[in-house]
Order: sequence, then C-alpha cells, then structure tokens
Amino acid sequence: MKIIYVLALLISLQMSSVGAETLPANQPDKEMFIAHLLGEMTLEEKVGQLTMSYDTEHAKKPELFRLISAGQTGAIIGTLSRAAGRELQDVAVQHTRLKIPLFFGFDVIHGYRTIFPIDLGLAASWDVDAIATSARIAAQEASADGVDMTFAPMVDISRDPRWGRVAESFGEDTYLVSRIAEVVVSAFQGPLPIASDRIMACVKHFALYGAVEGGRDYNSVDMSPVQMYQNYLPPFQAAFGAGADSVMIALNSINGVPATSNVWLLQEVLRREWRFNGMTLGDFGGISQLVDHGVAANRREASGEAIRAGLDMSLGDPFYGVELEGLVKSGETSQTQIDNAVRNVLATKYDMGLFDDPYRRLGRASEDPSEIDAESRLHRSQARDVARKTLVLLKNKDKLLPLKKHGTIALIGPLAKNPVDMLGSWSARGVASQVVTVYDGLATALGNQGSLLYAQGANVTDSTEVIDYLGDALVIDPRPETAMIDEAVKAAAQADVVVAVLGESKGMSGEAASRTSLDLPGRQSQLLTALKATGKPLVLVLMNGRPLSVGAEQDQADAVLETWFSGTEGGNAIADVLFGDYNPSGKLPITFPRSVGQIPSYYNHLNTGRPFVPGHSRTFSSLYYDQLDGPLYPFGYGLSYTDFSLSDVTLSTTALSRDGALDASVRVKNTGQRDGATVVQLYIQQVLGSISRPVKELKGFQKIRLKAGEEKTVHFTVDEDSLKFYNAELKYVAEPGAFNLQIGLDSQYVKQRSFQLL
Ligand code: NOJ
Repeated sequence: MKIIYVLALLISLQMSSVGAETLPANQPDKEMFIAHLLGEMTLEEKVGQLTMSYDTEHAKKPELFRLISAGQTGAIIGTLSRAAGRELQDVAVQHTRLKIPLFFGFDVIHGYRTIFPIDLGLAASWDVDAIATSARIAAQEASADGVDMTFAPMVDISRDPRWGRVAESFGEDTYLVSRIAEVVVSAFQGPLPIASDRIMACVKHFALYGAVEGGRDYNSVDMSPVQMYQNYLPPFQAAFGAGADSVMIALNSINGVPATSNVWLLQEVLRREWRFNGMTLGDFGGISQLVDHGVAANRREASGEAIRAGLDMSLGDPFYGVELEGLVKSGETSQTQIDNAVRNVLATKYDMGLFDDPYRRLGRASEDPSEIDAESRLHRSQARDVARKTLVLLKNKDKLLPLKKHGTIALIGPLAKNPVDMLGSWSARGVASQVVTVYDGLATALGNQGSLLYAQGANVTDSTEVIDYLGDALVIDPRPETAMIDEAVKAAAQADVVVAVLGESKGMSGEAASRTSLDLPGRQSQLLTALKATGKPLVLVLMNGRPLSVGAEQDQADAVLETWFSGTEGGNAIADVLFGDYNPSGKLPITFPRSVGQIPSYYNHLNTGRPFVPGHSRTFSSLYYDQLDGPLYPFGYGLSYTDFSLSDVTLSTTALSRDGALDASVRVKNTGQRDGATVVQLYIQQVLGSISRPVKELKGFQKIRLKAGEEKTVHFTVDEDSLKFYNAELKYVAEPGAFNLQIGLDSQYVKQRSFQLL
C-alpha cells in the first residue's frame, strides 16, 4: 500500500512539474523524485535497472516478459513497432512492484524510415541546416514508432579509411565533426528530449574508437594524451555541450585499459573534468569482453570492474543482473556505486518524460498507423534535397557534366539498380522497395525524351572470401565475368554517354567491415577499362562508405561523382546532379589517399623535421618514394558546375591582442555561368609552438550560395580561443607568436596571410 501511495505521490508530483511537453524538467523535483524512488528500491530492483536487453523474436518473447516482470531489465533495444513496445511497457508498468517504465533504444543513425545519406555523406554537405533536417526527421519518425533513445551521433574522429565505420562517421576533422555533433544532438533532442516527437541522443563511442590500430575493427588504441585531447575528445565535449546526456562507452582499449573499465576515462575525464552527470551505456558485450581483453578473470570480475569504473547500464550482457548483487554483498562493489548508476538511469528516463507518461512515444493503439511502412510516413522531398547536397563532384573534364536529357545513356554497374545497397549500413527501418535507385532516378528524369540502356557489367566482388563473409547481403550474378563485361560494352557502344555506377556494396562499409585495400572491389576496374575502350564519354558514379583509392579509374573517367550511400531518394538526387537540375556543392570531409599504403593521410598532420616541399628534392624527406606525394583528393575538396574565384585575404589587424578579435575576409566570386554554392574554409597554422603543431587546422567554414556573376565578402572572426590547443602539460593555451591564416575552397587551394598573437 505504502509503495503504491508513494509512487502515486511521486508521479503526481512530477506530473505537476512536467505537465506540458514543452516545459523544462524541473531540477529540484527531478532530484527529489529520483531520491525517493531510489529509497524505495530493493537491491535487486536497482540492479535490474542496469541492463538493456534485446527484444526477441516471437518464440522467445515469454522469457523477455519474464525478465521485465521480474524487474530485471531497465531498457530494451530493437523493438520493431509501437504495438510490440506497448506490450513490453504494459508488463513493466502494470506487473512490477514499482512500475518503473522501460525505455526503448535503437540505432537511428542516418534516418529511420526515410533513409538519408550515410553520415560520411551528410558531413560532405558541410551544410548544418541540411544535417539538422535529416536528424530532426529521423527523430520524428523514430519517436512515432516508440523509440526513446538513439545510439547516435557517432563522433569518432576517423582518419583511417580501412576502418569500416568511417561510413558512420563525420570524417577526419575535429572542428567539422564537433560542429556537426552539436547540430545533430540538438536536432534529435530539440530543446529537451522530453518532447514526444524527439529522441534522446546517446553519443558514441567514448572514446578513441576511430583510432583502432590499422583501421581493424575492435582493435586496440595507443595514443598520446595530447593527441586525445587535441583531436579525439573535443567532439564529445561538443555533443555534451549541446545537451547530450547519455554516452555509449567504446569497446576498444586505450593504452592497455579497455574503455568499459577505464577509471581514468569514465571518472577523471568524463565526470570530474567535464562534469558530465548523464548516463553511461556499455557497447554490445563490453562487460564480457573485459575477459577477452585479459583484464578480468571472469564475468564476475568484469562486472565489478565495469561498475566500479562507472559504467551505468550494460548492453548485450546479462552479467550485471547475475553478478552485481553478490558483489555488493561481498563488499567488492559498494551500494553507492550501484546507487549512482541507478540514479543516472532513472534520470535518463525522467528526462525522456517516461515517468510522466511511459507511453509518451509508444502512443495509444487507436493512434497506430494502419500500415507501418506506408509511403505517407516518409519524408521524400527532404531526403532528396539533403542527398543532393552530399554529392561531391571530383572531376569534370571538358564539362562533360551536366548531361543532356536526350539521346541514349548506357547505365552500367552492379550498384546502378540495387536498392538495398543505396541504404548503406545502419539503415534502421528503411525499406529497400521504397528506395529510388540510380536507374529509377535517371529513367524518371529522362522520361520519354531519351533512352536508357542498362547492363550490370560485373559483380561488386568476385572474391570468395568476401562473398562468404558478407553472405546474403550480396546478390551475385552467376554469369561468367567476361559475358557480363561484353554485355555492358555492347550497351555502351549503342549509347551517347556511359554512366558507370561502381563502388562497394552496403555490407562492405560499416561495423565489422574493415578492408586491407581501398581499391574498387572485384572486376569493376576492368569493367571501367572496357567501357573506356569504347571511346564513349564516361561518367563514373562512385557509391561507397569510405574513401577509395581510385586514381586509375579517375584517369579513365571524364567525370567522377562521389555519391556515398545516398538513401531512400538517392537515385533522384544523383539524377538531379547528373542532369544539372542541381549544381553539386559537396566537399570531402575526409582525405582520399592515392593508395592504402599512404595511410595515415589526414590533412592536419605535423610538419615533421623533413617535410617534402614540392619543387625540392624528394630524397631524405618524409614521403613514400614509389608514389606521388599528397592525396588523390584533399580534405575539403569538391567541384561545381560553376567556377569560384577568391580574392586575397584581408585582415582587420595583423597583431591580435588577447582580448581582441581579428576579422579575416575574402571576396568570393561566382565567375561561371550558373548559380552555385561552395564552402569557404578557414585554416590556421601556429608557426612556432612549445610542441610541434599541425601544418593547418580547420577553424571555420561557411557554405555560401552565389548567383552567376555574383560576388560576396565572407568574414571569419578569429580570437584567442580559436588559437588554443593542448600543450605538453595538457593545458589549453594560446601561445604568442606567428600564425598563418588561410582561407580557401579546399584544404590545398587557399590564400594566406600571417598575423601575430600578442
Ligand atoms: C554495437 C555498435 O558498436 C554500436 O555502435 C551500436 O550502437 C550497438 N552495437 C547497438 O546496436
């Protein structure tokens, strides 16, 4: 009786403070509410809150129901519909003693029903409004299906394109990733994640996952503190600053200590230094993997290490449930450690508005959509608009593009007509049959003004190892490769222009999809050579989740368009660009190396003691002697159908005082015949420092749109903060002295001026 009374009291207390969705959660009430609830909970009930369980197929549902009604799980991942979620929530709020609601988590990464381009593509837009649109729509669609939390954004700095999860990242640059992290968190959550059409952002993977050795997934990380603080940690701070109150802990070890049990990372950095007071969530199997890492003898030890380090909730491991009570009773884990973790989990539920209404996002049965995958539930026009902003024009010899909407086009390639691949990895509830392929997009745009021939030309891979690994995700045409190439060449011979859509299949980039090579897989390169031999104008449309070393292919093709995995409306977006209905404006968020051997190839490297200086001797300088120095395509690079010119840089002062600000400006002119957009990029180099500093670092960017012939002055403000970095003592300082300031349209094509910080 008492419990029911207390709970009713607490809930009414909370409802009075958080009645309207838009009202901010009232902090004192929240703390009081949680403290009271915690006071009512048994140890068993507390421990139960600390596990997130997987939703299961129908046959195993009774076990999941049992787990929930026994209060042994606090959250669920992977529930497929509102109705399914409601069934589980009913058990939690009707059949458990304290009626604590579950929350529902899911990987909503680049769209939910409407799939937007993969994150690497979104970053290539350098368009924060477009990225915000994609995340806001993802939140709307996911919340409408009962999702409370997304395991996103992933803000791991990704400098090694062998790592498959580069596809899920916003690229290699700390400044760009940080700005995008802020935008995405705000768009998922809105002002507060309590609104029923928003979801909570669980930023991941904390930390340094993008730096796994050799780009091999789940590998170890060994890194200097300066590198961590300077390049890998700031995007997390940016995401927290934007309001993310939960974080997923990485599976990798850091200098020998797995993140899951890393006291320095989870307590010193996260809680003490950054004052983070949200919830930490383990990544899948993180606790049991402490045994594989060799830092815990068994799962009991592993559970103890993780909870003591500050891992609040476990995912994909039942071991907290099995071990924590015993660990508390034996004194190996304190009651306080358990309480802290439970408090964080309950606070997360509170912030998502679930104590107020456990069905906040699950809705009522009467409001369920009659058809879950209904067309009307998609946001096609926004997806098309965002997707075309992510496409990057890499080459356009003799202005072959845009194509004319008449004559005959031969569309060739294993990715030209494949809806599954266009979705990319982590495609949530995206439905392949709702995807517009490149074939569909070109056919619609051409209408009956021109004709479209099609041939597959090659399989995406012919490697038995790759086929075995990717399994059913690949559809392999059993015909001999020569027959497929012949068929493609025949189609090309009849056409005015050839468009080859080549790259990787969806499964080739993503989690557990690291590669040793960055070449086009299979026989696709040979196919391109055969198409080139027809003498027809050749457009290469790349579809891939990582930088590819396509130097040879670039030489053969007259035009190259990077399209990533561009989502539900990808085919229309690609057609818009190929036919010039949209002028491309994307810029690479990651360097494309000439070969896998050039890695690491990120642009903001240190100068070294023996830098290679173009025009000077190559010997005894820091380079690979068997290949041209420098990337295939630099960071920030991308062409347009129009041309832009840059004036010299104007500085408001060349002596910046500590409390002052410097205005750096350029005039950008659209010198071509078409309206277009470009990204003006600001880079700064500290010439002399207490430690060696990068050759340049991105410090600002603006995407601007200019009509043909139009000119605009673009201003950037530089102050002391823009020049700060972590020195050898990990102090965040700006040192006096000379700086080079560059403004350009990519990281190589820049105009430079110098100034002094006083
Ligand atoms: C493992 C992945 O590393 C993580 O990114 C993802 O959120 C979880 N699985 C849940 O699917």
